[in-house]
Amino acid sequence: MIGSDFAELQLFITGPILLRKEVREAGLLPEFGHRDSENVKRFGPIMENLRKLSGAPEDYDIIIFNGSGTNVLEASVRSLVASDDTVLNVSVGAFGDLYHKLAVTNGKNAVQLKFDYGRAIDLDKLEQALEEYSPDVVTFTQNETSTGVFNNVPEVCALIHKYGAKSLVDAVSIFGGAPSCIAEAKPMMYSTSTQKSLGLPAGFGIAFVSPEGFEKAEKVENRGYTTDILAQVEKARNLQTLTTPNGTLVNQMCVQLDYIVNDETIEKRFARHEEMREMAHEWVEQMDGYSLFAQEGYRSPSVSAVQTAPGMTVEKLKQVKEAMRGHGYLFDPGYGKINKELEASGRQPIFRIGHMADISPEMLKKYLEILSGVLKDIN
Ligand SMILES: Cc1ncc(COP(=O)(O)O)c(C=O)c1O
Repeated sequence: MIGSDFAELQLFITGPILLRKEVREAGLLPEFGHRDSENVKRFGPIMENLRKLSGAPEDYDIIIFNGSGTNVLEASVRSLVASDDTVLNVSVGAFGDLYHKLAVTNGKNAVQLKFDYGRAIDLDKLEQALEEYSPDVVTFTQNETSTGVFNNVPEVCALIHKYGAKSLVDAVSIFGGAPSCIAEAKPMMYSTSTQKSLGLPAGFGIAFVSPEGFEKAEKVENRGYTTDILAQVEKARNLQTLTTPNGTLVNQMCVQLDYIVNDETIEKRFARHEEMREMAHEWVEQMDGYSLFAQEGYRSPSVSAVQTAPGMTVEKLKQVKEAMRGHGYLFDPGYGKINKELEASGRQPIFRIGHMADISPEMLKKYLEILSGVLKDIN
């Protein structure tokens, strides 16, 4: 039978991520019509719980887009960067680069400020770039999944806003695992997706948009259709999506958000992510020759990037991956492009530990114990 040989692995990659049994079971709930009253039974609680989880002020709209994180980031570029605007894409890694690519491929006047892999946004350098380019819009990544760097959203947004620019934040791999800071930082648009710290399958991008975002969008031409936040929000305000949603995922999202807010609780979920970050750090400290890749003080609660000890190579990390598969785990051997560049410059490659969503500290402890043995055997 098809599927009978699909491996049941515990995913320790950086998304998609392990799904709780209850989330998998919620995939069996009834399909429904997305313009029917049944739709409201799902999207009513979903929107309410997203607001609680985000702490977003009431004047922010919440939009659920079909697609994944990239689709909602592209919508932010299409809807909020005008043809005569300058957009500054601040990048601390592969996903900061992705925002730049989205701006360039959509024909926007885009400039980039890049930091070395593993470094967080340096506010002095950002200030220089704000002075040099006078951008209208600035994009940046809250949680750089490729390097494990966690930028300080309130500080970065405050600086951007001081220079009269508007901020677009990519929070794809962190929303649901740490405070969004939307209320404090007031970004024009804050974007995320389902398959990371929320602990759901991929399929939706989620946007939190400020009132000034909608004012701005009115003045931007060629917003497209599915990338138009004005078309999207009209439906979102009626608890609907613009185009047909994946009903299975809607059911799962309804169940999972209710669990996060009302069972686990938001506070405990964020604390569990911090606890797992500490566990990962302590584990790295006692691994001879291994070190944390991200700058101290800016390390992610949902993903740790680990620089390997001398002797480890990209090729050997592939062996580690296969050995971990033998133990029932999916190991993340690092972001390919970054590891290539690290090796080419004579530096050690990295691997990543995704400790997000519904992974428990007990599961992480066991994983790290097994990983220690595998790394020692292969390195
Ligand atoms: C920080 C960040 N931004 C954007 C993306 C792209 O999101 P998606 O794969 O959901 O399109 C990812 C995916 O890993 C990510 O981690």
